[in-house]
Parts: sequence; structure tokens; C-alpha cells
Amino acid sequence: MSPLRRTLRYLRPHRGGFAVALVFVGLQAVLEAARPWPLKVVVDRVLGSEPLGSSWLDTIEKPRLLLLAALAVVLIQVTLSAIALLQSTLTVGIGQRMVSALRADLLTHLYGQSLGFFGRRPRTDLAYRVTFDTFAAQSLAMNGMLPMLSAGVLLAVMGLVMLRMNVVLAAIFFAVAPLLFLTMRLISGRIARIATEMSEDESRLLEETQRDFEAIHIVKAFTAEASEWAQVMRASRRALASAFRLYFVQTGYAGAVSVLLALGTAGVLYAGGLLGLAGQVTAGDLFVFVSYLAALYSPVDSVSKALGVVQESSAGARRVFEVLDSEPDVRDARRARRLGTVAGAIRFDAVSFAYPGQGDSLALDGVDFQAEPGSLVALVGPSGAGKSTLVSLIPRFFDPSGGRVLLDDTDLRRIQLQSLRSQIGFVPQAPLLFPLSLSDNIRYGRPGTSDEDVRRAAEVAGVADFAERLPEGFDTLIGSNGQVLSQGEAQRVTIARALLRDPRILLLDEPTSALDAETEAAVVAGIEQARAGRTTLVIAHRLTTVRRADQILVLDAGRLVERGRFDTLRKAGGLFSRLHRHALFEAEA
Ligand SMILES: Nc1ncnc2c1ncn2[C@@H]1O[C@H](COP(=O)(O)OP(=O)(O)OP(=O)(O)O)[C@@H](O)[C@H]1O
Ligand SMILES: [Mg+2]
Repeated sequence: MSPLRRTLRYLRPHRGGFAVALVFVGLQAVLEAARPWPLKVVVDRVLGSEPLGSSWLDTIEKPRLLLLAALAVVLIQVTLSAIALLQSTLTVGIGQRMVSALRADLLTHLYGQSLGFFGRRPRTDLAYRVTFDTFAAQSLAMNGMLPMLSAGVLLAVMGLVMLRMNVVLAAIFFAVAPLLFLTMRLISGRIARIATEMSEDESRLLEETQRDFEAIHIVKAFTAEASEWAQVMRASRRALASAFRLYFVQTGYAGAVSVLLALGTAGVLYAGGLLGLAGQVTAGDLFVFVSYLAALYSPVDSVSKALGVVQESSAGARRVFEVLDSEPDVRDARRARRLGTVAGAIRFDAVSFAYPGQGDSLALDGVDFQAEPGSLVALVGPSGAGKSTLVSLIPRFFDPSGGRVLLDDTDLRRIQLQSLRSQIGFVPQAPLLFPLSLSDNIRYGRPGTSDEDVRRAAEVAGVADFAERLPEGFDTLIGSNGQVLSQGEAQRVTIARALLRDPRILLLDEPTSALDAETEAAVVAGIEQARAGRTTLVIAHRLTTVRRADQILVLDAGRLVERGRFDTLRKAGGLFSRLHRHALFEAEA
């Protein structure tokens, strides 16, 4: 289905309103066409003595007729203005509701997509589609279709009126219209191209400056100010140059259109003058024709613009529908099961995994293990071994490419996503905070939680230690506009957030890597204490955590190469004992 037809489906709930808008379009056309008539009446009947061809009007006395004509001028304009106001309130309202409905659909669809989907697409591009491309719905219907309809009706009404008045003059009018249209299309196509270039150049300038300021740290540390300056200025010059080109073409456009209209007016004036001398048209008729020619500009302009709008917003609509059509790759199976209370046994059964778009390069390869309910499993291995990848399969951020992941002996793909994730507390490797208060950051995902519970989780995760030093304690706003937390502090906030869910399964991806040994020991002891029978999977480098584990899994290049308890592995002389000698002892010292 074409993007236009699909967009129009969003218009369907507003059929009634749109019908009223169409009635307004007709009224507007009639009133626009009536505009020059009061003056014609005055010229022909009040000042001259031509009959108006209406027995009723011809019987009215001249002074009265003059007054009526003057009143008509005001009345026509007042009605036109009132209709314009009603019309735009109506159409903008409908258009906005269409945008809102389209956005709602798009957002629902996006939140249902997997992390793989988000990994494949630039975030700004997705944000652009949600924020701006959705306006396509509004512009297609309201700035595309409606103006074209309204221009068409107006041209038809004016044309009919003229044909009845004089065929020769009407022919001149109809000769000018397509010329004007072609000129407009030709030049406005060029204007649109230059405008696109300009906005691209401008957004590149914005991007460059933004990136520089964001990385100002690095720019200064590497004394790259001069080269960055030159780069930004280059982008700036390019943006200014295309703005100049745009200005030039736009001015030329206005000039060309005016000359064409003047040519048309000259033709009507000349031919009309000759016809007038021959007694075939009146002065008032001539006036009506010249006015219609002057009024020709706006409908032709709006058709030409509307064509551009339709093209442009079709592209926007296509980008929205493209996202709406992409099937989510991680989603509920048809008969997915809701989880009740879970024991928390996790099993990996010959699991292999390749990131989407990475071909055959496996991030996990034949991983087999079982985590007993309530046990503490530590995952260790060199950087890039696949530890974070392994953990991300448990909340089904990704589905395995081969093998199965099971919770209490049920394949995760047969469990409702929502109910699976609500059992899991997750602390990602990079601590992610929201621009909210400290307590709302901890409460994130469980909005109703009492302050008391928040404090308790904060206590366990070691947040309370530093919260008291913040200017407004737990109410302090976190983020770039508020309090900036250190890495270790941020980590502790994300731990508190995960603990607050009181999950049956806790996944910790190097949760304490930025903490000093003493703070770490306290936080780990807290987690340990609050663990109370929940299955915990922790990625860790430090001895304190690993030593307590019921089971240590050693991962290397996507394969599980060793497993066992701390003392056994240390003496086994494998990868673990090497890692242990190099990294872990330092932490202990
Ligand atoms: N989103 C992704 N898309 C493609 N490849 C990825 C993605 N994330 C990770 N990888 C690749 O998968 C492999 C395993 O990465 P992973 O993040 O699981 O390692 P890790 O063991 O957690 O390492 P670290 O200790 O540095 O955190 C790496 O080779 C990495 O380059
Ligand atoms: Mg990792």
C-alpha cells in the first residue's frame, strides 16, 4: 500500500471533521470569486448606467446600491476571515490527532523491538522518525491534499464565472495559469533541492560543534583546538554558502512569477480595452478579470507548494512505515506462558550466539552450564570473552542463535517477556542514570515504591554513604544538569535500583569495577546479605566476589573453558589461575 493511502487511514476516524473542512473549501472559493464584484457593481451601475443583468439589483436606487456594495466588501472579508480561522482550527486539530496516533503506533512498535534492532540503527535517526517524520500525516492531509482541493475548486469557480462573462478574456486567463504553474514547479523544485542541501549543511555544522563541545575534554587534552576550529569553520562556510544560494533563487523566483502575472494582466488589459471599445465588455467586467488574474497567484502557488509537500511528506511517511513494518525479532510466542513464582534455576543448553550482522563470528560458542536456584555464580574471563553477551541472553535482550536458555526448565522463548523481565534485576556494565532525582533513579521501574524501601535498598548498595553529602540528599537531581556522580557512585545507584525490584534473579555486570576495595567489600557483603535465596550471576574481576561463589565459570573467546570452585580452579593451572595471579591478587593486596 502506498504511504499516501496508509496515511489516509489515520484520517478515517476524523471523516466528519474533514467533510466540514471540504464544505468550507467550497464556501471559500465562492467568496473569493465574489470579492471583485462589489466594485464592478459600483463602476458599472452606480457610476455608469450599465444594467447588471439582475432585475432585482437593477431596481435599487444608486445611493442605496453604493452603500450595499460597500457593506458587501466588509461582509465578504469578515466571512472569509471567520471561515479561515474555523478552517485552520479544524484542520490543524485533525492533523495533530493524526500525528499523535501515528506517533503512538510508532512508539509502541519501537519499544517492542529488540536490542539487536536498536544496535543496527543510529539512535538520532530513530528519534528523527518519531519526532519529525510523523508530521508527514498532518502535512499530507492538511498541507497537501486540502490546499490542492481548495485551489482546484477556486480555479473552477473563477473559470466558470469568466467563461460566462467573456470567452476571449477567459482564454487569456487560462493560458497564463499553466505557464505560471510550470514556472513555479520548475523553480520551486530547485528551491527544494537547495533547501535540503542547506538543512543538511546546517545539521552537519550543528553535529560538528556539538561533538566538539561534548568531547571538549579530549580536544583540550590533545591540544586539537586549532584543527577542530578549522573543521567547524569549514562546515560553517558551507552552510552559509548554501543559505546564500537559497536566498538568491528565492528572490529570482518571486521576480519571475511577478513578470508572468504582469504579462497576463497586460494581455487582459489590452484585449479587454479593445473589446470595451467595441462595446462587448464593461469597465466593471475588465476590473473583475484583472482582479482574477491577480488572484491567480495564490491558488497556483498553493498547488505547486502542495505538490512539493506531498512528495516530501510521502518520504517522511515511508520512513515511519518502514519502521512499523519491521517485525520485532524478540517477542512473545503465540502461547507464551506467564511466570508464576520462580525457583530461579538457570540453564544454558549448548548456547551459541552471533550478534546480528556479524556473520558467523560467534560471541558465544557451545556454552553449557546450570545455575542452581539461590546460588551465586561468578563469570570471569578476559576482555571481549563474551561475559556481557552471556548475561544479556537471560533477560532475552537477544535470543541465542543455537541452543536454549532455560529458566526452571522452561525455554525462555516460551515465557512472556514482561513476566520474565519482572523477575530479573539487572545492573549493566555501564551505569545508566536518568535525569531524575537520586531517589527516583533508584525507584525507576517501580514507580510506587515507598521512600523507606528506597532507603533500605540504598543502604544495602552503599548509596546512603554518599547520599548524605549531596546538597539535597535523596532529592538531589542527577545528571548533566544536576549533580554529577562519580563512576563508583553511579554504579552503586544502579545496584540499589536492581535490588529494589527484589528479583528472583540478579544479574550484575562488573557492578563494583569502579569501587575501591573497601567500599566494594561493603557493597558485596550487602548484596550477599540481601540475596536471600535468589540466583545471582555476577561478572567480576575481584577476589572478594569470586571467592564466595558457589560456581565460577571461566569464559574465553566465547567458550566455557573451566568451571568449579575457587580453590580448585586456582590450583588447576589453567586460564583462571593465570588471571588470578595477574589481576586478582592485586585487588587483594
Ligand atoms: N552489540 C554488539 N554487536 C556486535 N558485536 C558485539 C556487540 N557487543 C559485543 N560484541 C562483540 O562480542 C564479543 C564479546 O563481547 P562482550 O561485551 O560480551 O565481552 P565481555 O567479556 O563482556 O568483555 P569486557 O570484559 O570487556 O566487558 C566482543 O568481541 C565484542 O566485540
Ligand atoms: Mg562486558
